[in-house]
Amino acid sequence: MIALVVGANGATGSQLVRELLNRNVKVKVIVRGAEKIPDDIRTHENLIIIEASILHLSHNAVLGYIKNCDAVASCLGHNINLKGIYGNPKMLVRDSVKKLCNAIKENNPTIPVKFVLMNTTAVNNKDMSEQLSFKEKLIFSLLRNLLPPQLDNERAAEYLRKDVGNNKKIIEWSIVRPDTLINETTVSEYRVFPSPIRSPIFDPGKTSRINVGHFISELITNDNIWEKWKGKMPVIYNATNSRTSNTCYPYICTRKKINP
Ligand SMILES: NC(=O)c1ccc[n+]([C@@H]2O[C@H](COP(=O)([O-])OP(=O)(O)OC[C@H]3O[C@@H](n4cnc5c(N)ncnc54)[C@H](OP(=O)(O)O)[C@@H]3O)[C@@H](O)[C@H]2O)c1
Repeated sequence: MIALVVGANGATGSQLVRELLNRNVKVKVIVRGAEKIPDDIRTHENLIIIEASILHLSHNAVLGYIKNCDAVASCLGHNINLKGIYGNPKMLVRDSVKKLCNAIKENNPTIPVKFVLMNTTAVNNKDMSEQLSFKEKLIFSLLRNLLPPQLDNERAAEYLRKDVGNNKKIIEWSIVRPDTLINETTVSEYRVFPSPIRSPIFDPGKTSRINVGHFISELITNDNIWEKWKGKMPVIYNATNSRTSNTCYPYICTRKKINP
């Protein structure tokens, strides 16, 4: 199996790449700076590094890189500084997802390619009746207008949900929504729900980046998990702070050590 990862040198992206390599997946990454990839994975024999900015690559170059890939994952996000938040590209995630999906469509694979987008609980799934309180709606509206990355995340999810939609012959997608991201060194128990079970604004939960990497790897390598979550926007919380709910369907991963 071959997977292409963008945002692979980020805090979550590098956890995802390590987990995929541990599962014997061949991984191609498109990164602006290879030096940011942790040493233990940068030299891995199953890792191919393409040093480029995804949005600056030509369509033909992306076509070539994505050929033969069974899965694509995006852990892209705006850098948390003034340039990253307010500078260009304002639609980094949406435009990258679009570019990758257009290349997949043109390659016309015989088996659908899995596309996993890392997103956030701050983005609603309009296919589900995810109710927001008046105060939450107000705050999200302010965030959308004041923080371009919020709008970018919303548009990227909307592109997969509506434009790629349910054309399952070429691309199947899943949009993974972690809550507040934290760093941990080992995979811990986590739970996955179809919709948020707590307010991302007034009662946020925690999700460790390594658990996000683990869950995305599960989606890519485990067809049963994929069948369950494809075409959906799973929300992932660390088990230590997620509430149980009879109306949700937790997927609990077993406790497992990974290489540091
Ligand atoms: N913070 C939270 O609590 C939270 C919660 C839920 C979801 N999220 C979402 O999860 C995303 C990933 O989180 P993270 O902490 O893993 O992010 P991160 O460590 O900041 O990684 C961001 C990745 O995006 C790349 N990138 C940024 N600007 C780029 C550009 N213009 N062109 C190409 N690549 C670019 C970075 O590469 P370079 O090194 O080249 O810049 C890096 O690989 C966040 O951005 C957010 O949308 C965040």
